[in-house]
Amino acid sequence: MLESVLVWIEKNKHSWLDDLKQWLSFPSISADPARHPDISAAADWAMYYLRGAGLESSLVPTARCPCVLATTPDGLCPADAPHVLLYGHYDVQPPEPLEKWISPPFSPTVREGKIFARGASDDKGQVFCHLAALTAWKQIAHEIPVRLTVLLEGEEEIGSVNLPGVIRSHADQLKNAHVVIISDSSQFAPGVPAITCGLRGLIYYLVNLQGTKEDLHSGVYGGAVANPANALAQMLGGLHDARGRVTIPGFYDDVLEVDPELRRQWAALPFDEAQFAESLGVEKLYGEYGYSALQRRWCRPTLDINGLTSGYQGPGAKTVLPCLASAKVSMRLVPNQDPQKIAIAFEEYLRQLKPPGIKLGLQQLGASPAALTPIDSPAVAAAAEAVREGFLADPVFVREGGSIPVVTWFKELLGLDSVLLGFGLPDDNLHAPNEKLDLDCFYNGIRTAAALYDLLAKRLK
Ligand code: BES
Ligand code: MN
Ligand code: MN
Repeated sequence: MLESVLVWIEKNKHSWLDDLKQWLSFPSISADPARHPDISAAADWAMYYLRGAGLESSLVPTARCPCVLATTPDGLCPADAPHVLLYGHYDVQPPEPLEKWISPPFSPTVREGKIFARGASDDKGQVFCHLAALTAWKQIAHEIPVRLTVLLEGEEEIGSVNLPGVIRSHADQLKNAHVVIISDSSQFAPGVPAITCGLRGLIYYLVNLQGTKEDLHSGVYGGAVANPANALAQMLGGLHDARGRVTIPGFYDDVLEVDPELRRQWAALPFDEAQFAESLGVEKLYGEYGYSALQRRWCRPTLDINGLTSGYQGPGAKTVLPCLASAKVSMRLVPNQDPQKIAIAFEEYLRQLKPPGIKLGLQQLGASPAALTPIDSPAVAAAAEAVREGFLADPVFVREGGSIPVVTWFKELLGLDSVLLGFGLPDDNLHAPNEKLDLDCFYNGIRTAAALYDLLAKRLK
């Protein structure tokens, strides 16, 4: 039956692309409250699409962006089929800076075998691979091989704030799933698909410094009062040492070293640091001394300034002492680090670094721990075999530096493991201008998803 499903998928290549373009056209930017009508429209679109594949599908409202929750009704799957939970997100990051986009972010455009749009890879394009596969199964087999629950959220890009509530209130429906499938990561390289077994966690802070009550003439007052811009530069500059290590006391205390066997496996992956540097437009890579680029991204914690604001930003010179300075600072965490413990250490250290004459305000904008997923389960074996069918290549087992907070919650709240099966590529420009998904990846992703449900049905019995 899978063969006929794959043939039909191939025949309908153009309509899959047309359907994806529709979904990508909604500016479902979760960070922007003004985009709420578009969030609703993108959620509705997915809800109806899932109905088209025969699922019972509805919206679960939250304080902000709704979830789409769908399930196979009796009769659409074999009575004894294993239960699989598919998670994805339909919200996207803000598209700014708009002038850097070759085609507008919400006018999906195909160029050179890639579809360009915000959300093309993160995550609508990857979720859509599953929606297409389900549609094909329903159309050709009048059946989906597994009992399926689909949970699509609209707040992943703002930290999934309301998702734990939705998981709790629907726990009865979700908890008897055997496994969670998530396609929200990437392949290792073109032609080298991957299954991701680890993600970093994240703590995010807004740091505000206040000096004098108003801006002042920098000649008349400069030197006599603390300048919050100077103070911020000094404080943030103090967060790393000369070897690229984070100086927060205790920051590395709980970090687990990766065992030598795993390090050997990573070193054997086809990854060239010089080429990586060149692809990013830098002369040399940079990071914590003593670790490879893959290690720095996959198993070492980091601290980065994500935004920095103070003083005069207009054209020309203005001699002014700003009264305010602020920074957005995030830390990526690795397995065994406790986000709250790190948060306390960070706050404490900034208070120590703060010079006199400055007020410090700290606001935590989200925290989630790192996640590790098993690699030796029947579901992972099914996923690996599905990748072989869809991409005609064996997957490698990798970690990723990004974060998907729900992976931890599925484990903690429902006891469920996730399989992270990404269809994108490392150069998809996630969160950046000209986000894209290669059409090869898109079609192979649909094939992989179609095969996956068949193989999960066989392997999870
Ligand atoms: N899909 C990404 C995370 C990702 C990217 C995983 C590449 C693996 C490979 C996700 O949408 C994302 O961007 N997450 C945020 C989480 C945050 C907003 C809580 C991140 O990592 O910054
Ligand atoms: Mn994502
Ligand atoms: Mn993202």
